[in-house]
Amino acid sequence: MASSAPVGSGRDELPGQATEPHDDVEALRETLARMRTIAAKIPSMLAYWGADQRCRYANAAYERWFGVKPETLIGKTLQELLGPIIYPQNRPYILGALAGKPQHFEREIPDPAGGPPRYSQADYIPEIADGVVAGFVVLVSDITERRQLELRLEHAQEEARATAVQAQSVANRLERILSAMADGLIVQDAAGRVTSSNEAAQKILGLTKDEVPGAHPSDPRWRVVREDGSLFPVGERPPAVARRTGLRVDGVSMGIYKPDGSLTWVSVNCVPRVDPEGRVTETVTTLHDVTVLRNAIARASQQDRLAMAGVLAAGVGHEINNPLTYVVGNLDFALEELSAFGGPSPPARLNDLAALLREAREGADRIRKIVRGLRALSREEVALHPVEIGSAIEMARNIAAHELRHKATVAVRRGDDGSRALADESRLTQVLVNLLVNAAQAFERADPARNLITISTLRRPPDQVTITISDNGPGIPVNLRGRVFDPFFTTKPVGEGTGLGLSVSRTIMDSMGGELLLEASDDPGTTFELVLPVATEMGGGGAGSAPAPETGRRGRIAVVDDEPAVANMMRRILEREHEVVTFKDPQAALDALDGSQPFDVVFCDVMMPYMGGDELFRRVRASRPELADRFVFITGGQTNPSVQAFLSGIPNERVEKPFAAQGLLGIARRFVGLHNESSVQKPPLGSVGGDAEQSPSPRLRRQGPAALWKTGKPPRP
Ligand SMILES: Nc1ncnc2c1ncn2[C@@H]1O[C@H](COP(=O)(O)OP(=O)(O)OP(=O)(O)O)[C@@H](O)[C@H]1O
Ligand SMILES: [Mg+2]
Repeated sequence: MASSAPVGSGRDELPGQATEPHDDVEALRETLARMRTIAAKIPSMLAYWGADQRCRYANAAYERWFGVKPETLIGKTLQELLGPIIYPQNRPYILGALAGKPQHFEREIPDPAGGPPRYSQADYIPEIADGVVAGFVVLVSDITERRQLELRLEHAQEEARATAVQAQSVANRLERILSAMADGLIVQDAAGRVTSSNEAAQKILGLTKDEVPGAHPSDPRWRVVREDGSLFPVGERPPAVARRTGLRVDGVSMGIYKPDGSLTWVSVNCVPRVDPEGRVTETVTTLHDVTVLRNAIARASQQDRLAMAGVLAAGVGHEINNPLTYVVGNLDFALEELSAFGGPSPPARLNDLAALLREAREGADRIRKIVRGLRALSREEVALHPVEIGSAIEMARNIAAHELRHKATVAVRRGDDGSRALADESRLTQVLVNLLVNAAQAFERADPARNLITISTLRRPPDQVTITISDNGPGIPVNLRGRVFDPFFTTKPVGEGTGLGLSVSRTIMDSMGGELLLEASDDPGTTFELVLPVATEMGGGGAGSAPAPETGRRGRIAVVDDEPAVANMMRRILEREHEVVTFKDPQAALDALDGSQPFDVVFCDVMMPYMGGDELFRRVRASRPELADRFVFITGGQTNPSVQAFLSGIPNERVEKPFAAQGLLGIARRFVGLHNESSVQKPPLGSVGGDAEQSPSPRLRRQGPAALWKTGKPPRP
């Protein structure tokens, strides 16, 4: 084709056609006819354009594309055929072909009727003769179908890509949601191996993200327990059950001990995924962390139990207290009577009797300590008073005796010069009990010969007093020291420790203006130190304090108590030295006190029916303020907030039931001594109202006071 000159004169002439000698003419005609047939039949457009861009030949396919008969194209220019839109687009290729370079390109051809476009693939093949381009053959194939297929494929790929991007973004969102989820989520395969998990699950299990894949629940790094603390076998946990049964499992509680030893409580739900054959392919487990909730419930129920114990303790304390008060008082009195009766050399039987009474008195004293301890536990508010440190320590030892007895030996070293601390005795006792119990529980074995708990007290000038509790137990590991004061931190097995002891103790110490410290020392064992402010010594002698100097004057004393046995017991003790008027009815007492009757001291019960000691005090204070100062309140076992508030709001002294005779006499002497100078006019006998009973009893006055209980000195008659 490239070697022959184009023949552009007739519609049936093909490029390359030449006149040959006659013999070959027939053969040539045949070839020509065949080629014309082929050219007419091929679906592609075949044409020849001259260097002048005019058509020399066009096959039948042109009619299908351009809707024009091929013969009408002959002599037309390319510009006329292609029109103002396509021609400029094709022009570079036309010029390229006319410059002798073959051109190959594809073209989208819009449908003039507005239908879908068609696509063509064109080849411009220049015909060069003697170095001159005579024209070019145009071969244009309709590639619409192929192109449409390609386009559909491209579109499908585009869609697939978009779907993938969308899926990725959904997956990312899902992952973000899952990692933001507070609940742990674990997916396990049919063999129970973890295939994926979210952050919360990793936290609950104590694993890093990389450690999760492939982890198996039977891994001994975790210890999983049931609610009661017993081991939770792998085969009975929710995922295993769901795998076995193909059913979902809901709301199972379990405790997971992480590799670092800390415990998390979770509520577990597990859903199996089942394939069409009914096989479980994987399980999806959610872990809802209920540790805080569980601890709060435990704390609430512990508080409930404490409150309940407090109510019971207060009730029992009160009920025991009143009878105990006159048991103690009467035993004291009987002992003194006995010693007076026997004279300087009593008969042996009298001595035996006195020994019996002393034993009974000791027993009563032990009951008194236990009751005080019980009541100490039941109090709610913090009321600061001068507290005898030794007595708080003793009380704590009594209360913790059960834990301590066969476990360890307790030694007390007092170096506090007898100073008193400003504290709430019951709260201080509670702290000491917590520390003693912790120390006792820290010893692995019960061995009182080796296990030693030392309580030392020290006066720390200028204004502090410290109590140190040390044990030679295993000590607290350095890495745990910072956590032992955290609420709920415990190293004790489930059900044994709540982890509240130290946190409550520290709160108590803070509320009293003191401190609770854990000593940082390398010595073996554990040492806690309590620091408290020293009480400034004024008033507050209490029934246990040393007797006041004797005054030599018989004072005049009122006793107001609705319990006759208590009132009588007090009268018997006090009337050895003073004149005593008892009132069992507060109204009668008010009538007497309101009048002009002089009294050195008024011993007044706080809890009385109809009119409490507080009410009586207020009324007396309104009419006789000077007498209000001489009120000493007798307090019992009941914890009544309004009474407590009343007592902490006044400076008056108070005496706790049950009390020793000695203490009561001491207070009476102090008050009588105080008013020694002011002459106390005694009213005529019988002038006191109501149920008042007048002392002295002739029998007592005749015998005089005898040797007092324990260390007391007999007062001068
Ligand atoms: N004397 C001690 N020796 C060794 N460890 C101690 C001692 N005292 C406290 N601990 C540690 O401190 C932890 C917290 O003590 P805390 O009294 O607060 O709670 P608990 O004794 O565990 O439980 P709870 O007192 O509520 O029954 C204990 O579990 C224990 O590990
Ligand atoms: Mg404890």
